[in-house]
Amino acid sequence: MNYKPALHHKIFEIVSQAAQELNLSSYVIGGFVRDYILKRDFKKDIDIVAVGSGIDLALKVSELLPNNPKVQVFKTYGTAMLRFEDTDIEFVGARKESYHFESRNPVVENGTLEDDQNRRDFTINALALSLNKESFGALVDPFNGLVDLENKIIRTPLDPDITYSDDPLRMLRGIRFANQLNFNIEENSLATISKNAARIKIISGERIVDELNKILSTDKPSIGFLLLFKTGLLELILPELTALNQVEEIEGHTHKNNFYHTLEVVDNICPNTDDVWLRWAALLHDIGKAPTKRFNKKQGWTFHGHEFLGGKMVKKIFERLHMPLNHKMKFVQKMVIMSSRPIVIAQESVTDSAVRRLAFDAGEDIDNLMTLCEADITTKNPNKFKKYHKNFAIVRKKLVEVEERDHVRNFQPPISGEEIMAIYDLKPSREIGILKEAIKEAILEGEIPNEYQAAYTFMQKKAEKLGLKQIK
Ligand code: CTP
Repeated sequence: MNYKPALHHKIFEIVSQAAQELNLSSYVIGGFVRDYILKRDFKKDIDIVAVGSGIDLALKVSELLPNNPKVQVFKTYGTAMLRFEDTDIEFVGARKESYHFESRNPVVENGTLEDDQNRRDFTINALALSLNKESFGALVDPFNGLVDLENKIIRTPLDPDITYSDDPLRMLRGIRFANQLNFNIEENSLATISKNAARIKIISGERIVDELNKILSTDKPSIGFLLLFKTGLLELILPELTALNQVEEIEGHTHKNNFYHTLEVVDNICPNTDDVWLRWAALLHDIGKAPTKRFNKKQGWTFHGHEFLGGKMVKKIFERLHMPLNHKMKFVQKMVIMSSRPIVIAQESVTDSAVRRLAFDAGEDIDNLMTLCEADITTKNPNKFKKYHKNFAIVRKKLVEVEERDHVRNFQPPISGEEIMAIYDLKPSREIGILKEAIKEAILEGEIPNEYQAAYTFMQKKAEKLGLKQIK
């Protein structure tokens, strides 16, 4: 079969011409070919292999392109990159030696196309299409990658021991592809991942998190996480999660397995959001449960304070994996810390003041918090399932009503500290804080509406009790 139609992008003609001028052969390889055959969306990322210098080819291509785009050269690795229209095009010279995707060692030995394909991660990523004039569009597939694509199999071109030790991140990539594409990892390969799992320790947190994020962005991340778990990788990457995999029984009391529960919650989140951070929150929402678990005769199993401890653990995990310690982390922490709040409200009678406080504390993140809590309902009892969802629907409705009336989501005190200082002729002092807090509390409790006049009258009464004299 000829894949010429895959190569309608202008860039391929130009690469082909440039390669001919330099008298070398060139191929498009990797994800572009794989995704074309799988009819997946083109992700604006093209990898070109030159049998010869990838850098020279990139420079020549730039010469032939209108505007001569800038070529970024990575001399040590023998690679170069340029941007054409909205596509990144990466050039590499075919090599005999393994790709050291994170290694500091320069690549030295040039090789043939097949040498290069040999050293790639999976047969489905080693498929190449010729860009050479005489065979433009021909598939070069020495390892039956096409058959593996059809049979939905993740297989390494070489002995998996070699392929995975070349770059241990590939263990994670294999699992990620299996999850993303709905493929199976070939048996021997899977066994090798289990055997070599400990090698993941040499991989940077950033690269690991890139893969975890891709797993968390699939339709059903539990597939990937169960593979990570089965192979022993998860225990090394996120031991806080695998610690949840236990069910204990004392005096006939058991608790649910919070590891499998967590994976269900993550899956439940998926269809509703394209935000990977809410999925992180789902993944970590119960991690405080392992260290806080206690048993007592009266209450059975308890996990007191697990949300708060979980919030602290989030920070440690983000630090350990070199994840951003910015507002994204704060968001995940907040979700974990607040993860039981709506449930408590929904279990009891849903009062206005409880809902108002929830909206106040969650602020802008209230919708995400509700989504997380709805996802958290994994009971297999259909009556309970219905009841909890019904109660959450009531909470959601009340949230809208309360917000319309009292605008507590982005709460602005109706009377500012400056104004209080002016009214009572105060310097910055404790009294101002007391008055502001009292006004806020009265609004959240529903004693007064969130309006200037009501707050003013309320403040006057409170100030009188504090013995403050009004001067204006
Ligand atoms: N590759 C590899 N080993 C790695 C990373 C990449 O062999 N650890 C090779 C594969 O042939 C891969 C190509 O480099 O197809 C490009 O890598 P990358 O852009 O990371 O992956 P894609 O296959 O394009 O897929 P995705 O963008 O989904 O990661």
